[in-house]
Amino acid sequence: MRIVIKFAGALLDRPLEALARQVAALARQGHEVLVVHGGGKIFTATLARLGIESRFNGGLRVTDRATRDAALMVFGGLLNKQLAAAISAAGQPAVGISASDAACFTAKPLTEPAGLGFVGELTGANAKFFQSLWKAKLVPVAACLGLGPGQEIYNINADQMAAAAAEYLGGEKLIYLTDVAGVLDGDAVVETVDCRDIEPLVAAGTVSGGMVLKLEACRRALNAGVREVRIVGGEIPGSILDAASGGSAGTRVIATRGRQREARAARRLTRLDPARVF
Ligand SMILES: Nc1ncnc2c1ncn2[C@@H]1O[C@H](COP(=O)(O)OP(=O)(O)OP(=O)(O)O)[C@@H](O)[C@H]1O
Ligand SMILES: [Mg+2]
Repeated sequence: MRIVIKFAGALLDRPLEALARQVAALARQGHEVLVVHGGGKIFTATLARLGIESRFNGGLRVTDRATRDAALMVFGGLLNKQLAAAISAAGQPAVGISASDAACFTAKPLTEPAGLGFVGELTGANAKFFQSLWKAKLVPVAACLGLGPGQEIYNINADQMAAAAAEYLGGEKLIYLTDVAGVLDGDAVVETVDCRDIEPLVAAGTVSGGMVLKLEACRRALNAGVREVRIVGGEIPGSILDAASGGSAGTRVIATRGRQREARAARRLTRLDPARVF
């Protein structure tokens, strides 16, 4: 099975062995795993060290050239290589890649809201490249970056990146590993969230901040035909293996009935569209 796993930035600041072991185990079982990761505190700390001010617009980081260069160093460099090293050390060779490597992920600038700088959205994935990695039993670990116009690298929201990667690469499962046990209602983990309930949950104040963006990304993936989308706690032992094997960890996000079937049929038709997947 093809599985996309997104690592929260917060998890990258902690020991990675237990998570890496689970990713390696999935790959050993024969699954085609893609790991996508974002930044974390190390990025903010690096910006501060470089004297670069952090600014946000609509929840997105305003990314001028200096910020983008730092993102490339931290996401595409340090964190990407640390995560790949942890998975390789767990017994399954992993390769850390980003954007420009074999033009693996392409992007275009996000224009809404205006003035975000080098913030992009994914426009395609080099499916042949990923297939060759999986065939060689390698685990690709991708930073949330995309190659855009003029060979510029764009910073991409990691939740959206994981959803779009699952879409473009025909992922069947998408697992969001986060720093909480799932979608919470007070102290309780919500077992299932139907996409039509996202707005009401936000309006009621049950869901806020980063979880709103994540649920929107889940909806995108489901509407694009990804079969199963789950949000699980990275600190809960065994959560990746549980989520991958259809267990009950965390929160399952489900499409409103009927819509996903249409989406899957549409995906079968558009999957080989060379403008999006090459
Ligand atoms: N109802 C909710 N259930 C769970 N988390 C919620 C909820 N409402 C708000 N949150 C917040 O959303 C956070 C998760 O989103 P956040 O963007 O911080 O992490 P992430 O997306 O997993 O990682 P990253 O942004 O580094 O990629 C939680 O830590 C919590 O503070
Ligand atoms: Mg987030």
